[in-house]
Amino acid sequence: MSDTTTLEQKLQVLQNRKKTNFTSTISDERGSELEYNGHKISDLVAWWSVAKVIGHLWLKRDLPEYACTFIETIMILLADHGPAVSGATNTIVTARAGKDVVSSLIAWLATIGPRFGGAVTGAGIWLVDAVNRWISPGELVKEMKQKWVYIQWIWHKVKSIYDPDIRCKLMQDLAKTFPTTKHLEFALWVEELTTQKKPNLILNVDGHIAALLCDMLSDLWYTPEEIARMVKADLFNSFFVLSRSIWFIGHYLDQQRLNEWLYRTPWWDILYDVE
Ligand SMILES: CC(C)(COP(=O)(O)OP(=O)(O)OC[C@H]1O[C@@H](n2cnc3c(N)ncnc32)[C@H](O)[C@@H]1OP(=O)(O)O)[C@@H](O)C(=O)NCCC(=O)NCCS
Repeated sequence: MSDTTTLEQKLQVLQNRKKTNFTSTISDERGSELEYNGHKISDLVAWWSVAKVIGHLWLKRDLPEYACTFIETIMILLADHGPAVSGATNTIVTARAGKDVVSSLIAWLATIGPRFGGAVTGAGIWLVDAVNRWISPGELVKEMKQKWVYIQWIWHKVKSIYDPDIRCKLMQDLAKTFPTTKHLEFALWVEELTTQKKPNLILNVDGHIAALLCDMLSDLWYTPEEIARMVKADLFNSFFVLSRSIWFIGHYLDQQRLNEWLYRTPWWDILYDVE
């Protein structure tokens, strides 16, 4: 380094030698204009939708129109499911205990799992595996039975082949805009078998979303291994969390608006089965 090098330049060289603690590949705020995945935000607000932003920040892909419509439909279809389910109840009880929006949201997030919402991830894992192994729907049903594992994309509490879930019909209509739908077709074949056993063992809305997400990712040229990795990294659940947060913020604000007081479970609703 020559004597004429300024202190600032020397510092720059030192900084460049230092190993960084973090790597980020999705956005850059250092220039004159913030960039998402290499695109200036003035372009984003002029041309983009929220789904496009999700595509760039979550998937690092410029999503085609059908995929944007699909993601926006997921956001709408999953954005509320009434006050009775575990997540909503937790949010409402927490809000009524006088807690803030963040605490009320944390309370619902804690309920996500295989029996509530987490089924999207579970469905994705099993679907990708089954389609990649080229097994038949019949073999899959047999395998799951032998393993004593519920098929993660099958079942609805009240809906059945006699009383179909309109959300599933909307998803199937949307599927017609997809270039290919091998995962959805596989999941629907499995439904044909399971509904022979019980009419409520239908391909549920989580299953439709998981199957179409798999189809969307394979149409975006992700390899089966990359898709499997993304599913395991909880990408599918991320859509569920994002959409349902709209719902739970709504329930939190609703409780504030109603000025609801602390909730306490009444004794008649508890069986005290003690000695
Ligand atoms: C939700 C769930 C735990 C309900 O199971 P359940 O209480 O046994 O359901 P039901 O009482 O309505 O069904 C009873 C019968 O259908 C079978 N069955 C239920 N769900 C099944 C599934 N997903 N795959 C295969 N068989 C299933 C049961 O084995 C049982 O069979 P049997 O009568 O021979 O014993 C289960 O369906 C499941 O894990 N589904 C996948 C995940 C999911 O959809 N979660 C809800 C997200 S909101």
